Amino acid sequence: MSATATSNVSIIRILVVVIVLWFLNYRHNFDGNLLSNLRQTAKDTGTLLSQEENQIETMDPIKEAINDGSCRRICPYPRKNRIYAFMGTAGLSDRLSVLHMLGKLAGYLCAIVELPPPAESLIGIHNGGIPLSKHLRWDDFYNMTFLQDGSPVFQEARQNPNRSQYHENWSDKGFYDPSKYPKGWRLMISNRSSNMLEHYEIIQQWSWQFDDDPHRGFLWEIHQSMYSANIRKAKPLPALVVTASNNNTNSTNNRTSNSTQNNLTTMTNSHPKYRDVMRPSLSSRACQYVDGAIERIEPTQLHDFRKELQRRVRALAPNATNVFGFLHIRRGDAKKSCNTTLVEMKRYLQCSLNGTEHTGKYITLLMASDEHDQNYRQSVLDLVNQDSTPQYSHVFMLDADLIVEDMMYDLGSTKVMPKRLLNNYYEFELLKGIGMQKSFDFSAIFLSKRRSDCPSCTNLLSSYPDVFQ
Ligand SMILES: *[C@@H]1O[C@H](CO)[C@@H](O)[C@H](O)[C@H]1NC(C)=O
Ligand SMILES: *[C@@H]1O[C@H](CO)[C@@H](O)[C@H](O)[C@H]1NC(C)=O
Ligand SMILES: *[C@@H]1O[C@H](CO)[C@@H](O)[C@H](O)[C@H]1NC(C)=O
Ligand SMILES: *[C@@H]1O[C@H](CO)[C@@H](O)[C@H](O)[C@H]1NC(C)=O
Ligand SMILES: *[C@@H]1O[C@H](CO)[C@@H](O)[C@H](O)[C@H]1NC(C)=O
Ligand SMILES: *[C@@H]1O[C@H](CO)[C@@H](O)[C@H](O)[C@H]1NC(C)=O
Ligand SMILES: *[C@@H]1O[C@H](CO)[C@@H](O)[C@H](O)[C@H]1NC(C)=O
Ligand SMILES: *[C@@H]1O[C@H](CO)[C@@H](O)[C@H](O)[C@H]1NC(C)=O
Ligand SMILES: *[C@@H]1O[C@H](CO)[C@@H](O)[C@H](O)[C@H]1NC(C)=O
Ligand SMILES: *[C@@H]1O[C@H](CO)[C@@H](O)[C@H](O)[C@H]1NC(C)=O
Ligand SMILES: *[C@@H]1O[C@H](CO)[C@@H](O)[C@H](O)[C@H]1NC(C)=O
Ligand SMILES: *[C@@H]1O[C@H](CO)[C@@H](O)[C@H](O)[C@H]1NC(C)=O
Repeated sequence: MSATATSNVSIIRILVVVIVLWFLNYRHNFDGNLLSNLRQTAKDTGTLLSQEENQIETMDPIKEAINDGSCRRICPYPRKNRIYAFMGTAGLSDRLSVLHMLGKLAGYLCAIVELPPPAESLIGIHNGGIPLSKHLRWDDFYNMTFLQDGSPVFQEARQNPNRSQYHENWSDKGFYDPSKYPKGWRLMISNRSSNMLEHYEIIQQWSWQFDDDPHRGFLWEIHQSMYSANIRKAKPLPALVVTASNNNTNSTNNRTSNSTQNNLTTMTNSHPKYRDVMRPSLSSRACQYVDGAIERIEPTQLHDFRKELQRRVRALAPNATNVFGFLHIRRGDAKKSCNTTLVEMKRYLQCSLNGTEHTGKYITLLMASDEHDQNYRQSVLDLVNQDSTPQYSHVFMLDADLIVEDMMYDLGSTKVMPKRLLNNYYEFELLKGIGMQKSFDFSAIFLSKRRSDCPSCTNLLSSYPDVFQ
């Protein structure tokens, strides 16, 4: 053996190591980009935190358990534990991400979530300053269910007979009245200055310790923003604490294992059924307990109205239409960051539609915008609908907001649509079903001019080759 042969072998070894490291890093970046793109989409459309829906091909037993759901903690039915969350007010897309986080927690902790009504949790400015109906319910918008058994995740808090008589107006005051629950139930209140992670560890331990005892459970009141809570950033959530006599509520922070706690087979002596892989994560991919994808949490009633809306859109579109598209123009506060002047819209459409005239397809675009100026709206429609634009003889544009509003008016006046649903939030949910949300199967092409998603051109031919082939 010469010295050169030995050094050749080590060079090859080093190369192999470099390639493997590069590949691992590439995978990491790829997933990272994917997630940040999806997050951006979720921000823009205000929905679907479905990054977890992406099934990653793998032989890794932990990931497999996550993909096929065998990672899940199985909870006795009905779920005895309760989580009450006071959320303050925000827009519906923000709410949905909070609901999704709460759903994950409840799924794993064997709880259901009680919520103040939407009228108390949604910000008024998105409804033109008009207060929302007090009768509005969360399941008017979302029917989120546990993957384990299909039972609902959320319950209207006003239906809980055990709420405190001192609790008024969905304020920050204590919601649960512990005296109305049997002895042995644990009440945990997380206020704005609480360490949520510590509270979570105590609750987690409690939920395991009394897993089989129908007479002991927990009531967890959360009065803190889930976004800023430290529990959201913990990936993964802390493992079950190992202690010999595991029945005090002291959180010692002594974990089953250290940082790499994702061991499928890790057991603790606290509870024989516990496995680390069961833990959810509020901000990354981990064991799933609820489905947050907007098209899969659609309530029955909303589903029916969406179908009716789609029927109306088809009836209004030229009957040569074989491709529906969605054009979302965000005006208002986005005008500064995204140029949506008529001159720019004309240029954008020219560039985006360029080439589609030779495909034999007839496109009907559905225009949605927060712009109230009817002149602007009509001028955008005219950009393609006018006879003076023969290059668009294969394109037609409809005002999507107008169609939805007309439908809501019609169905509202015949009482087919309950009065409580006649608001901007519901209108927005309906718009999702024709293209505001890509995952609904109606529009096939998407053009957008909005703050964070403001391309100078979306050439449809190259962006959607399958549609135009
Ligand atoms: C709750 O609302 C009622 C009626 O609007 C009001 O009289 C009462 O003062 C409110 N209570 C609190 C704690 O804000
Ligand atoms: C209210 O408390 C009773 C026991 O006092 C309990 O059986 C019941 O499940 C509780 N209801 C809710 C909605 O928490
Ligand atoms: C939060 O709760 C702790 C104890 O549970 C209490 O000492 C503290 O004053 C509370 N803070 C607020 C802002 O209510
Ligand atoms: C808690 O632990 C102590 C001693 O370790 C034991 O005596 C007690 O019965 C336990 N309580 C429960 C509710 O398990
Ligand atoms: C909880 O743990 C801390 C630190 O380990 C300790 O100082 C404290 O006395 C414990 N409290 C109880 C109630 O066991
Ligand atoms: C964690 O537990 C182990 C063994 O039970 C013990 O040796 C160690 O000191 C504990 N660490 C902390 C930080 O409590
Ligand atoms: C914790 O991690 C360190 C280094 O990452 C390792 O040396 C140690 O053995 C681990 N301890 C346990 C209990 O897994
Ligand atoms: C998982 O835990 C088991 C038992 O503690 C151990 O044999 C195995 O090597 C661990 N696997 C990993 C990937 O840490
Ligand atoms: C929610 O979904 C469940 C299961 O599919 C169904 O039984 C229930 O009626 C739905 N509720 C609403 C309000 O759509
Ligand atoms: C096209 O629509 C018109 C009404 O707009 C209708 O009269 C006509 O029958 C339709 N043609 C076909 C082929 O469906
Ligand atoms: C908007 O775009 C148009 C045409 O692309 C351009 O002429 C105009 O200067 C732009 N306006 C701003 C404020 O950038
Ligand atoms: C359309 O595309 C053709 C060829 O790809 C190009 O020559 C032409 O300038 C484009 N027109 C516009 C308005 O972008």
